[in-house]
Amino acid sequence: MAKLTVRDLNVRGKRVFVRVDFNVPMEDQDGQMVINDATRIRETLPTIELLVEKGARVILAAHLGRPKGKREPSMSLRPAAAKLADLICRPVAFVDDCIGEKVEKTAGLLQPGDLLLLENLRYYNEEEANDPGFAAALAKLGDVYVNDAFGAAHRAHASTEGMARVIAARGDPCAAGLLMERELKFLGEELENPARPFVVILGGAKVSDKINVIDRLLEKADAILIGGAMAYTFKLAQGLKVGRSLVEADKIDVARAAMEKAKTRGARFLLPVDDVVANPVDTGKVNKKGKPVIEMQNPRVHSGGNLPDESGGVDIGLETVKRYGEVIRSAKTILWNGPMGIFEDPRFADGTFAVARLVVEASHKNGAKSIIGGGDSVKALHNAGLGDQVTFMSTGGGASLEFLEGKELPGVAVLSDKQSERG
Ligand code: 3PG
Repeated sequence: MAKLTVRDLNVRGKRVFVRVDFNVPMEDQDGQMVINDATRIRETLPTIELLVEKGARVILAAHLGRPKGKREPSMSLRPAAAKLADLICRPVAFVDDCIGEKVEKTAGLLQPGDLLLLENLRYYNEEEANDPGFAAALAKLGDVYVNDAFGAAHRAHASTEGMARVIAARGDPCAAGLLMERELKFLGEELENPARPFVVILGGAKVSDKINVIDRLLEKADAILIGGAMAYTFKLAQGLKVGRSLVEADKIDVARAAMEKAKTRGARFLLPVDDVVANPVDTGKVNKKGKPVIEMQNPRVHSGGNLPDESGGVDIGLETVKRYGEVIRSAKTILWNGPMGIFEDPRFADGTFAVARLVVEASHKNGAKSIIGGGDSVKALHNAGLGDQVTFMSTGGGASLEFLEGKELPGVAVLSDKQSERG
């Protein structure tokens, strides 16, 4: 059943608690935390602007990183308040806690249209533990609950699940924000009955991360194109030699079963026919995390089945791009999740960027609906300078994958159904 949305609410003068996903990448620049990519903040603007327009008193809450119950200064949300103020061109107050008297008082002083951002919810262990007392303390802050944090909706935490229960039990509404609504539409409804051909492009390192998505999408897709290191687990399952590629040898059966299922269903299941390979060499150095620094040396294109013993696959080759291109160009619906290689290294980015261009071209020339399933593929599109040229880019990482697997997300399940509107 459709969920109540922020559009359905009458919130004039009410305190609206909005859970957002402001878990944005930041870096320390001369002792100051600076936001590298504000997409997740920007994407909540429609919801916040609508609430301001409707005269709500808006209390925003989010997590940042995984501080595990500690007040880790580098994980403060203060820079997010400043960024939001810049983007929305209005003042955004910030309070350095998320529950308790001080917060209640600050929230109580808000006037209609005012915005307040609370400090990182995960400074309390009770957030991730979905502690009932903590959920009740959060629930005290709002007359109405809105969840616009699709990226965190797979977590049954106090701010995404527990407090919504408390508010619903009080008889007050719990609604989806506009970003949440769009995510559910594009990753859900649009892929339920996709215009055909429906082409799925999947990449990334591990088969184990994506196998449930593959399994589910095999029910619908006309073609699945595989790239990234996970292609080598599929190749291993086909009996090919994969040299020193990153593989999950224990997932061969799973990989084989997926290929069998594709055959039974008559879906095309394409693996790279040529690869960019390189030789991993241990430099003897360690990185900041204490892990050995491996350099990929002697990059070159390799055609043909078996990879050389000393090399690992790091990107798809040109011939593969050509073949995948023919399939992508014919698509009417495209779902892309995961890069085709180690695209963070410019030597191994060509395959991923070529796929990004093909997806954009199919959207423009063929009118294909192009849906990007979040995480690294979104980053790749931005790096390729094509960020705004697809139909939809998810702000979720783990949440998108779980949703695409067909799982019910706790942060969505708890929202009020449309018919039970009380606003
Ligand atoms: C994300 O970045 O995927 C979400 O904000 C969830 O963060 P988490 O994986 O730390 O729960």
